[in-house]
Amino acid sequence: MQTVHALDPLRNAVAELRKTGEVALVPTMGALHDGHLTLVREAKSRGASVVVSIFVNPLQFGANEDLDAYPRQLARDSALLEAEGVDLLWAPTVEAMYPAGFASNISVAGVSEGLCGASRPGHFDGVATVVCKLFNQVMPDIALFGEKDWQQLAVIRRMARDLDLTRPAAAAILGVPTVREADGLAMSSRNAYLSAEDRQAAVALPTAMRRAIAAIEAGVDVPETLATLQAEIVAGGFRSVDYAELRDADDLTVLTTRSDRPMRLIVAARIGPARLIDNMAVNPS
Ligand code: PAJ
Repeated sequence: MQTVHALDPLRNAVAELRKTGEVALVPTMGALHDGHLTLVREAKSRGASVVVSIFVNPLQFGANEDLDAYPRQLARDSALLEAEGVDLLWAPTVEAMYPAGFASNISVAGVSEGLCGASRPGHFDGVATVVCKLFNQVMPDIALFGEKDWQQLAVIRRMARDLDLTRPAAAAILGVPTVREADGLAMSSRNAYLSAEDRQAAVALPTAMRRAIAAIEAGVDVPETLATLQAEIVAGGFRSVDYAELRDADDLTVLTTRSDRPMRLIVAARIGPARLIDNMAVNPS
């Protein structure tokens, strides 16, 4: 595996890989876990050369968020990626990604609003801007993202369509199902912030979500179910719930009744120092 930290060597290395076939991009912020590695394996299973980016993107962190605390462990991550057979690790410095004077911003209306867009103002502008740059830097045939970040995936799909970012022949942004710990908690780099006690309690989130989905699918009133869900998450040991909403799975329209289209239950809640997010499918009526 080759590792590059600046744009010119990246472009040269990608040009070499492209000679042998398709190039897949897996963007990450590092502190890799099995969720990230599942994206890598999915990319490899498609026969593509795999480029992984590791960049803790300052633009997507709010002023009072965890940019400084976010785990950085490049040597460990690099060994994990090497073992997966990744071809190229793109680990830009902040200066390489945002040279002095950088002044541009990508903002995706609609799907960026509400949910994490409301509780983390500016977050999705930061995500869209860095992912747009990554697409332009690597020009991948395929880019893989986790369903764990359902709204992020919707924002990236919208941006890629709007700005013609994917190559016509492949035009592929692949969403990969959420990888979970044995007890059901979605894997996240931020789970590392949890004390042993909070980690145990955190399972209340997916457990209460599964119960709410069963209720919605059985026809129980949606607002009532969401109120019960929030109460159960707090009773389970969370400090607060940022949001718990039923949304159309594709365009993220807010739903207050069960729909005949695929739906998604999407939740963000705080426990100890961590803010955890999760989402699950709800079957149409
Ligand atoms: P990060 O949180 O490091 O996640 C990188 C990718 O891994 C994202 O596509 C995310 O959805 C996916 N992922 C995380 N946990 C997962 C899990 N448990 N199962 C499946 N996939 C999972 O998301 C970001 O970084 C950044 O916002 C980024 C897109 C890199 C832009 O900076």
